[in-house]
Order: sequence, then structure tokens, then C-alpha cells
Amino acid sequence: MASEKAKALLNWLDERFPVTKLWTSQLTEYYVPKNFNFLYFFGSLAILVLVNQILTGIFLTMHYKPSAELAFDSVEYIMRDVDYGWLLRYMHSTGASMFFIVIYVHMFRAIFYGSFKKPRELIWLFGMTLFLLLMAEAFMGYLLPWGQMSYWGAQVIISLFGAIPVIGEDLAIWVRGDYVVADATLNRFFALHVVGIPLAILILVVFHLVALRTTGSSNPDGIEIKKQKAENGVPIDGIPFHPYYTVKDLYAAVIFLIVCSIVIFYMPEVGGYFLEHPNFEPANPAATPEHIQPVWYFTPFYSVLRAIPNKLGGVMAMGASIVLLFLLPWLDRSPVKSIRYRGGIFKIALALFVVSFFGLGILGTKPVTPTATAFARLFTIIYFAFLLLMPFYPSFEKTKPVPERLAEPVIPLSKREGKHWRMVERGVEAVRTSAFYRNVKARLEAVGAHPYYQNVKERLSAVTGWLKTYGSK
Ligand code: HEM
Repeated sequence: MASEKAKALLNWLDERFPVTKLWTSQLTEYYVPKNFNFLYFFGSLAILVLVNQILTGIFLTMHYKPSAELAFDSVEYIMRDVDYGWLLRYMHSTGASMFFIVIYVHMFRAIFYGSFKKPRELIWLFGMTLFLLLMAEAFMGYLLPWGQMSYWGAQVIISLFGAIPVIGEDLAIWVRGDYVVADATLNRFFALHVVGIPLAILILVVFHLVALRTTGSSNPDGIEIKKQKAENGVPIDGIPFHPYYTVKDLYAAVIFLIVCSIVIFYMPEVGGYFLEHPNFEPANPAATPEHIQPVWYFTPFYSVLRAIPNKLGGVMAMGASIVLLFLLPWLDRSPVKSIRYRGGIFKIALALFVVSFFGLGILGTKPVTPTATAFARLFTIIYFAFLLLMPFYPSFEKTKPVPERLAEPVIPLSKREGKHWRMVERGVEAVRTSAFYRNVKARLEAVGAHPYYQNVKERLSAVTGWLKTYGSK
């Protein structure tokens, strides 16, 4: 009875909106490579964080006052007096940092497996534009609490426009709407943070996903699954997005939300990295903080800026460090996509690039010293060298032949090549044969065999059985 009513409702909807068509074309009959690993979770996690930022942002806006007089106090009011205001704010501030963690891993995955290469150049370009918009969104959002670091961070970054010859100073005044960061700046940043940039981000996410649906996803092997189709036109190495990846993504979302909850409830400031300590003091244009530093997710690029002794040179280097990322699909000339089939030179270069990126990030949070500057320069050189040498790696590296079909979703340790995997395998074996492991395993088995646990299990299966029969009625 109930299912007949549901069918009638679905028919009614289908005649007016393609619900079933969308469900099948986008989910149950949308085929994706079967070998996605955990690095492929981060796209859907980015959507999850985006939704969190929009929802918590809407509620914060209901209580926030975008004026230099009231902004700081309104944030304190949210934290102390608004019901669950502290939770909303911490979900939003933690979400901002988590967004960047997720996006950096997402971008790294694309470099690791060459996902930006033909035919996915546009996905990458839309992605990079999203990255720029996210940086703008975070930068403008950070001014809103009107704390010391909000104020001085904005002052320093906007004044960088002044380095541009001829138009620089006028441009900086135009951006601020005043000669210094002031009420006018706060108002326009509020408008852009709450409406302008989120709208652009949403539109670009749609473009990003439409482009992805057009080419189909790549995978850790970098093999195009569309090239090997069965007679019914379905890729042999593909599996339907729903239920396989919806369930897998849901699992990742739960783990991710647990991590976020630990941060939100137990350590929302994360030692001054997610919420900087000077920002708990109201903005004071007359007192410059001792160290002005941006939030951690900007520090790699901030370090590049500081590594160059000349202001204009620094701004140009910082800009180039992002522009070169846009050009990756054309800089990388390798015949193979995935790192699995690339030669040693690229692997070493990529490892050095990652170390440099982290190094620049850490140095950007520290005060300038001669040693720190020397390291920042070294890391900056490696960062640029990795990108600029991209076209030349293929001339030196020996790539491995790419198979026609996908390898196992997770290659077993015993099949992996190289001495490092042997070491991991020996380590796993040592743990498995240790007395401690056997002890823990025996205890867990004893818990499993305990009548109380058996009782709970039986009751749970009775409930699921009942739910199943009820659901099929
Ligand atoms: C709001 C930000 C973003 C959202 C919501 C988002 C969402 C997604 C989703 C859902 C996927 C498919 C699942 C996956 O492969 O993980 C994806 C794929 C992809 N994204 Fe993003 N993304 C964002 C930003 C970026 C950025 C900043 C870049 C790089 C600059 C990027 C590059 C890519 C690439 C190259 C793929 C294709 C991967 C493949 O097929 O192997 N995305 N994105």
C-alpha cells in the first residue's frame, strides 16, 4: 500500500521533473573506476565542508554585525549569549581550516595520479579557480571578527597591491575603500564573504562536476575505463556510483566528522593555528602586533613572498607560484598519468616538492631570522624548480608500461615492488606474530563470544529483520 503511494508520487514528480532519470544517469547507472582509494574521498568531503560553511555561515550572519564599532562584540555575543552560538562559530572556523586540508590533499591527489592531464584539463582549471576563490573567501572572512590579526593581516596583504607600479597605491585604496583598513573595508568584505564569493564558488563547483561527468573520473592507475566496454556499453572496469561509492564516501564522511568533532569540542583553536591568539583582542589601529602572520593555509605562499628581498619581486613570485599551478596540464608532458608508472626522477622531485611546500608552510608561521630566510629561499627554489622542470622529466625518466585493465583496488603488500614495501610487509608480520597482538585479538574474541554481546547482537538482528520486513511492505 505504502509502496504504491510512493510509486504514484514518483510518477507525479517524474511527469514534472526528471527525478528517476537524474537518479539513474547520475548515480545508479553512472559508472566509475572500481579502484578508487582513500585519496578519492576528498572531492566529496570538500562538498560536505562547503555545505557546512554555508549553513553555519547563514546562522552566524543572523547575529553578526558588520561594523567596525560592533563586529568584535557581536562575535563575543555569539560565543556567550546566543544559544549554541559557540558551536556555530567553532563549526565555521574549524570548517575553514578543514576545507584547506581537504583541498590540499585533493590537489595533491591530482598531481600524484596526473588527473589533470588530457582530457581533464578543464576540471583542473575550474579547480584552480575554486582554489583562488576559496583563498579570497577565507581572507575576507578572517577580517570579520575584527580582532588584532584580522585587522593587521588585512592591512599587510592589501598593502601588497601598493607594490604594483603606477596603479598600485590607488588600487589598494580602491580595495580598502579608505586610506587604511576601516569600516568601509569591513562592509565590502562582509558582502563579498557572505554573498558574492559563495555564489561564484557554487557556480564553479557545478562547472567542475559537469566537466568531471563529461570526461569521467580518472583513477590511481590513470587508465581510461571508457576504452574497455562490454557489449552493453558499460565499462568493464567500472562500477555504479550508487551504492558502491555513496556508501564508501559516507564511511569517509563519518570518520571525517569524528575528527572535526574532536577539534570543535576539545581543541577549537588548535594551538593558535585554526584561531590565532591575537585575534581574541579587538582590532587596534594604534598597536601593531609583534608578529603578523596569516592563518596556516596561506603560509606556504606568504613564505615565498618573504623569501624575495624586494617587495614587487616577492608579490610577483607569490603570484607565479599560483599561476604555474594553473599551467600544470601543459607543463606535464609525461606519456603516463599515474605515479605508479612514472620513473624515479619524478618521484624524487615530487617528494622534494612536498617537503618544500610543508617547509614553506612552517616557516611562514615563524618570525623572520637569517636561517629561516635561507631555508625559505631554498624551498622556494625547489618549489619553482619542480614545476618549471615538469616538461623535461620525461626525457630523463624511464616510465613503466601501463596495463590495459585496472590493477586490484588495493594492491596486496606481497605484490608491491620495492624494498620499502618489503619493510612495511615485515613490520606488519612482526606485529601480527607479537604476543601483544595475539593477546589483544584473544581478548576481543572473548568479548565477541560473551553471552551479553551475543544477546545484543541477536536483538540488533531482530530489529534489522523487522525493519527489512516492514520496509518491503
Ligand atoms: C570547493 C572545492 C572543490 C570541490 C567541492 C571539488 C569536488 C570534486 C569532486 C566531488 C570530485 C570527484 C571526486 C574526486 O575525484 O575526489 C572532484 C574531482 C577533481 N577535482 Fe575537485 N573539487 C574542488 C576543488 C578542486 C581544486 C582546488 C582542484 C585543483 C586545483 C580540483 C581538481 C580536481 C580534479 C583534477 C578532479 C578529477 C580527479 C580524477 O578524475 O581523478 N578540485 N572534485
